[in-house]
Amino acid sequence: MGAAEKLKAIAQEIEVCTDCKLHASRKKSVPGEGPADSDLMFIGEGPGFHENEQGKPFVGAAGRFLEDLLASIDLKREDVFIGNVVKCRPPGNRDPQPEEIEACGKYLERQIEAINPKVIVTLGRFSMAGYFPDTRISKIHGQAKEIDGRLIVPMYHPAAALHQPSLRKVIEADFSMLPALIEKEASTSQPDQPAPVDPEQLELF
Ligand code: URA
Repeated sequence: MGAAEKLKAIAQEIEVCTDCKLHASRKKSVPGEGPADSDLMFIGEGPGFHENEQGKPFVGAAGRFLEDLLASIDLKREDVFIGNVVKCRPPGNRDPQPEEIEACGKYLERQIEAINPKVIVTLGRFSMAGYFPDTRISKIHGQAKEIDGRLIVPMYHPAAALHQPSLRKVIEADFSMLPALIEKEASTSQPDQPAPVDPEQLELF
């Protein structure tokens, strides 16, 4: 099965998932969207009001800021995969609970495996905690770290900048580093490069 089919199958499972209590109040699940072969993946926290209505990630105010941030590095939302830690809206936009994050983690893991992005940007503390437990976003935002063969870049959630305007410049500065990180990762990682040629085969030409 190709990556796009895998993502579709995961989304179909999410749509009917009842593995945590968030399913009871969902209108639409929000599996995430974007190219199945994206080099860059964003992981937010979970759907809010508008996402729950539309079944699409980051379509409210935070999403508009995310689109501005993407535009600042010459990208559109269609160019990247945008997902979330939990795929159903926590009621009243409360924080996702540990058992909900745990129940939904299998879907995120399978999405990452299918897409195999070179760079993952975590947006906010819940998404960060999956890679950097026991630390604070204020300490490590913008600092890329190689984990399991890809670069993980923790960043503030775009909604944080809407509540605290001084964070806008910080997240803009963190975003501005992304193109260089992606380029570096693309030039050093192997999986998309052709398999090495067998020297014996070369003798045939
Ligand atoms: N905030 C998130 O973390 N995810 C969304 O999809 C929308 C807002």
